[in-house]
Amino acid sequence: MAATEKKSAAPASKRNATLSVDSKTVEFPMYDGTEGPSVIDISKLYSDTGYFTFDPGFMSTASCESKITFIDGDKGILRYRGYDIDVLAEKSDFLEVSYLLLNGELPNAQESKEHIRKIKNHTMVHEQLHFLYRGFPRASHPMAVMAGAAASLAAFYHDSLDVNDPAQRELSAYRLIAKMPTLAAMAFKYSIGMPFIYPQNEMNFSENFLHMMFATPCEKYTVNPVLARAMDRILTLHADHEQNASTSTVRLAGSSGANPFACMSAGIASLWGPAHGGANEAVINMLREIGDVSKIPDFIKKVKDKSSGIKLMGFGHRVYKNYDPRAKVLRQTLEEVLGELGKIDEPLLKIAIELERIALSDEYFVERKLYPNVDFYSGIIYRAMGIPSKMFTVLFAVARTAGWIAQWKEMMEDPKNKIGRPRQLYLGAQQRSFIPLEKR
Ligand code: CMC
Repeated sequence: MAATEKKSAAPASKRNATLSVDSKTVEFPMYDGTEGPSVIDISKLYSDTGYFTFDPGFMSTASCESKITFIDGDKGILRYRGYDIDVLAEKSDFLEVSYLLLNGELPNAQESKEHIRKIKNHTMVHEQLHFLYRGFPRASHPMAVMAGAAASLAAFYHDSLDVNDPAQRELSAYRLIAKMPTLAAMAFKYSIGMPFIYPQNEMNFSENFLHMMFATPCEKYTVNPVLARAMDRILTLHADHEQNASTSTVRLAGSSGANPFACMSAGIASLWGPAHGGANEAVINMLREIGDVSKIPDFIKKVKDKSSGIKLMGFGHRVYKNYDPRAKVLRQTLEEVLGELGKIDEPLLKIAIELERIALSDEYFVERKLYPNVDFYSGIIYRAMGIPSKMFTVLFAVARTAGWIAQWKEMMEDPKNKIGRPRQLYLGAQQRSFIPLEKR
């Protein structure tokens, strides 16, 4: 395909790409984004040529237009609505970032007050949900509980299920961002046989979350402000990440008109996988398995041996071919948390630091541009805070809910929104005759 150069602003196309196939020449419009690679609009390829494109894993496919998050993987850049992630992590907080993701701008003082008021108005969950939780075995993985609990919200909140009503969409967005920490803390409390702790609306978002996680009804629990700030920063860093697997899942589920609670449940399911949000739990399991710094060289050998199927969890990224900018912030947060808790000598941390050193200098990882990603450090921080590894991906889901719902809302507001319906390269059997059972 050859591109005819003529720069233009999105979304109008002032240049075309030309494709020659089967002695036919077809032109496709090209669009430039405000940043990042331009795209070739191949939506008419099938009607014009009878061919599909083939791109398993979406290596070269932009699935939608979006104004929310920008990533430059080669330069290690991540921005929400134009703001660099490290600046937001330092100067903003998760609730402000959730407003930014949803509305496109940082709130002014009045908007911020109103946003916080609305979130606080929805922190409790229907009391009946306690019974839903009690139906799960105590040993359930909390992501299984979360997927069920998020979907079940649709059964409780009938007044915000009309996806075509902007006011109901907004109400669902607030309900989801506000209730996810409550549902997450309930999943934790349930798993250890402790009573649920109700939200405390005089606390900020992260303080309230830590309080619901660690307070008990029998004694006063004071939230450590350093840990609350670290938690808030982790939530901010995980809040959105462009069209990753879980966000694309949310969009695809939502493209059929499914309600937002069902879509969040789909996102949670996708996030659970170890190649995605499940990696933070997998990192801790890997560090535990290695067990000692002296065992690292053997482990690295296995990672490099493709037949072992072992990957260095918390390393590598489909988009970042440079240091994950979130990992940079988290490394510093890790030091703050461990400094506060006096756990600098944590044995798993020693293994992690040595792994990082080796991976950043070893030819295998350098050649493939495999840098630590966000999940490499988040698990170690959570662990230091006393959060069990099964909860790590749940915390990712709490944060990513802000991005999921913002992306879902953006899609629902887009008049060009269509049901997502990929096609395939069929390699199965051609038509054949049915053979009755007695003759097979
Ligand atoms: N350890 C060892 N080798 C790796 C790793 C790793 N973690 N990641 C990639 N490679 C190798 C891979 O085997 C391949 O080698 P070769 O070119 O010789 O065949 C090369 O690097 C390119 O990898 P890829 O599998 O084509 O890359 P991908 O974009 O399909 O996969 C990934 C990206 C994140 C799934 C992968 O790097 C991975 O499995 N990493 C470990 C899991 C992880 O940490 N996931 C969290 C991602 S960040 C948070 C999130 O988005 O949820």
